[in-house]
Amino acid sequence: MRIDTRSEGGRGIEVHDFDPAAVTADDLATLRRHVYHDKIVVLKAQTLDVAQFVALGAAFGEPVAYYEPMYHHPDSEYVFVSSNISRDTGRVGVPKTGAFWHSDYQFMPRPFAITCFYPRKLPTVSRGTYFIDMAQAYRRLGPRLRAAIENTYCLHSARRYVKIRPEDVFRPLGQIIAEVERRTPPQRWPTVLRHPVTGEDLLYISEAFTYAIEDAAGAALPEALLTDLLAASGQLDTGYEHENIFLRSYEPGDLVLWDNRTLIHRALHNPGNEATESYRVTVLDEFPLTSEEAA
Ligand SMILES: [Fe+2]
Repeated sequence: MRIDTRSEGGRGIEVHDFDPAAVTADDLATLRRHVYHDKIVVLKAQTLDVAQFVALGAAFGEPVAYYEPMYHHPDSEYVFVSSNISRDTGRVGVPKTGAFWHSDYQFMPRPFAITCFYPRKLPTVSRGTYFIDMAQAYRRLGPRLRAAIENTYCLHSARRYVKIRPEDVFRPLGQIIAEVERRTPPQRWPTVLRHPVTGEDLLYISEAFTYAIEDAAGAALPEALLTDLLAASGQLDTGYEHENIFLRSYEPGDLVLWDNRTLIHRALHNPGNEATESYRVTVLDEFPLTSEEAA
């Protein structure tokens, strides 16, 4: 295993000659440290099957099966499939997932610690993921916004991005909405988390899932404050030119691990109908989402 810290744009690190069959406990501890401190680790030239990919994820934490089975790979509920490929045997996974700023499972009681992303079929153009480092975004906030969010909380819900399942066709919309609220009730997290491993303070909001901000007593704060935070962090920049946004592009064989607390991400979809497919395994670690001393 050879670690190259001069990866694309200075973001994250690349690892060459990584062989999951030969990896040692020390190697894994080193890689995990890099995921937390460098935020993105790309294992180059990987050729894993579904079972091997799940096993690799399990080396970094406890894999969690996505709550909605329509995303599952037929051979493992732990593999979430994003795919626009239709096969003779039917569709696998769900097309066009994640084209909005979010952190995986931010709307759930236990958001994932690490996302393991493995593109299986890359298009010829638009192959990558946009990221924002929300610890850096917090450091770059002006004094007015920093003061305004002290001791505040945000509410998160999946409701605006839940995808209608094939079996929901012909169901009343109100019934579907009620089911979404029952299965994924809103979650409340501090607006600023303190990362339990790195100790960094980070802004924990996303354009897709965060819908309200309130004070510690639960009194609503102006919607404009949340809008200002989304804008300041770069999430409202539809041209992706904000200084906080960076694009990580992929080559065949890349297997990407990222810190899902600190980074928010947004899928880059190619404008045409080129075949594209990716697998994802998401894991919990042994730490709470935020350490006790969060700002
Ligand atoms: Fe995602």
